[in-house]
Amino acid sequence: MDFIIEAVVKAVKDLYQTNITAKDVNLQETRKEFEGQITVVTFPFTKVSRKGPEQTGNEIGEYIRNNVKEIASFNVIKGFLNISIADDYWLEKLNNEILTDDFATVKPNGKKVMVEYSSPNTNKPLHLGHIRNNLLGFSLAEILAAAGYEVVKANLVNDRGIHICKSMLAWQQFGNGETPQSSGLKGDHLAGKYYVWFDKAYKQQITELIEEGQTEDEAKKNAPLIKQAQEMLQKWEAGDEEVISLWKTMNGWVYDGFAETYKALGVSFDKYYYESNTYLLGKDIVEEGLEKGVFFKKDDGSVWIDLTEDGLDQKLVLRSDGTSVYITQDLGTAQLKYNDYHMDESIYVVGNEQDYHFKVLFLILEKLGKSWAKGLYHLSYGMVDLPSGKMKSREGTVVDADDLMADMFDTAKQQTEAMGKVEGLSDEERTTLYHTIGMGALKYFLLKVDPKKRLLFDPNESVDFQGHTGPFIQYTHARIKSVLSRAGYTGTATVNITEVDAVERDLIVSLTKFPETITDAAANHSPAVIANYIYELAKLYNKFYHEKSIMQAESEGLKQFRLQLSAATAKVISKGMKLLGIDVPERM
Ligand code: ARG
Repeated sequence: MDFIIEAVVKAVKDLYQTNITAKDVNLQETRKEFEGQITVVTFPFTKVSRKGPEQTGNEIGEYIRNNVKEIASFNVIKGFLNISIADDYWLEKLNNEILTDDFATVKPNGKKVMVEYSSPNTNKPLHLGHIRNNLLGFSLAEILAAAGYEVVKANLVNDRGIHICKSMLAWQQFGNGETPQSSGLKGDHLAGKYYVWFDKAYKQQITELIEEGQTEDEAKKNAPLIKQAQEMLQKWEAGDEEVISLWKTMNGWVYDGFAETYKALGVSFDKYYYESNTYLLGKDIVEEGLEKGVFFKKDDGSVWIDLTEDGLDQKLVLRSDGTSVYITQDLGTAQLKYNDYHMDESIYVVGNEQDYHFKVLFLILEKLGKSWAKGLYHLSYGMVDLPSGKMKSREGTVVDADDLMADMFDTAKQQTEAMGKVEGLSDEERTTLYHTIGMGALKYFLLKVDPKKRLLFDPNESVDFQGHTGPFIQYTHARIKSVLSRAGYTGTATVNITEVDAVERDLIVSLTKFPETITDAAANHSPAVIANYIYELAKLYNKFYHEKSIMQAESEGLKQFRLQLSAATAKVISKGMKLLGIDVPERM
């Protein structure tokens, strides 16, 4: 709305002989209860007009209406100058911007950003928290790309360490050579099963040792299983052939399993980092930090950083036995990522239980003098809960990602069948549709919430076709598509109308906001901004659809216009949902 800003600048100059700049003009969306689409806040100009806000608003309004042909009328309410823009202007926007192929595509901004997300451990399958992580990361990457960034989607796999040794050890001891093939279990589930076995057996040993008179702390340290796991980790670090070979086999199973889950989730990565490759680089950085005096060594040989002056505490960066801890690996990975891509920004999509870890990590990298440390950002997100009683997983603790997706498919199937929406579809088409709706429901429900907030995922509510849901939006899209196909709309007709009604104007105004919504979502790292925008758009379309007849429009020109408006809405819904990683069906 630059032309309004310019007009106001000129008005203030001519009326009050004062030079102001564009920055001094504050524009807002006009509140729904008033007439107009755009509002100028006139209070700042009362100083130079030396009149009340009401009169100032009227004077400026009068001036710009007489000077700018796009301004049809204005009204002033309590110093807010509400401007109505002429319908011509909106119709032209629709034709020359919104309906063009490159609407909402921006030029590259020359900046490179890495989005690291998912980043699982290889000892167990993905769970509900990972689902939120994967959806956020993938969507954020899409949004940043749409906003002009060059984006690298990265996945850091924590594929080494004591946790994976626990699964390996349990498999060795209790597995009888079980494989995904022999058991029919997905590889990640198989590894997870042995991780749980380890935990059980380990707890059993602790209990026994306590009964024999040891304290709990002693028992935890002395239990044979944990000692064996630690031994295995040392052997792994030493490159022991047998251990490495078992590690490769089990991780291989897990990767096959993850690949299936990622496919079902519709997410992908440009680059994988593996902790097994980066932890040694981390040790180099520990050396660097010691040389620079950023770290210090304790008598037992362990290496620390003292962050008490920064309001944090002392933090271990390398164990006394020389083995690396979680943050050692992250120091190395951060360096490697930068060496590989030289990106301007690097985003870590990780749950808020790791807030402290990332605070420390970024601070250390800054203290080490890494020029790129200022570009690091932790996109911290809240936990996901399920309503109590829903979907206890086989381990009884966390909700498995694959189980949840299968459940969503079933819920989508039930609800869709109950609504009789699938007549005339082949079996294959139905299966695709249930998957699209089930995943749309899940994705939309998780993404519509501000990432920072904890959320309660209710599967049934998420599929409600009338609610603030993915399926409601998907259904709106399908409805538009069916209108367009019934009308034989080809997108070529010329529209010869000059006036539109309020609901139509509102719809065009909403459509024009798509590009700025993308920028806003990118700047705030928030897919929720897109999700809520599309919902408002879909609601507005439904209002239009109920108020206005398309096929029985008063004139052919009006009918073509309404079809155009429908086509434009479908396009923006589809593009917007794509930024959330959600497909929209052509019919349902
Ligand atoms: N694998 C870790 C976990 O499951 C998350 C890794 C997050 N990314 C990172 N660069 N530290 O808790």
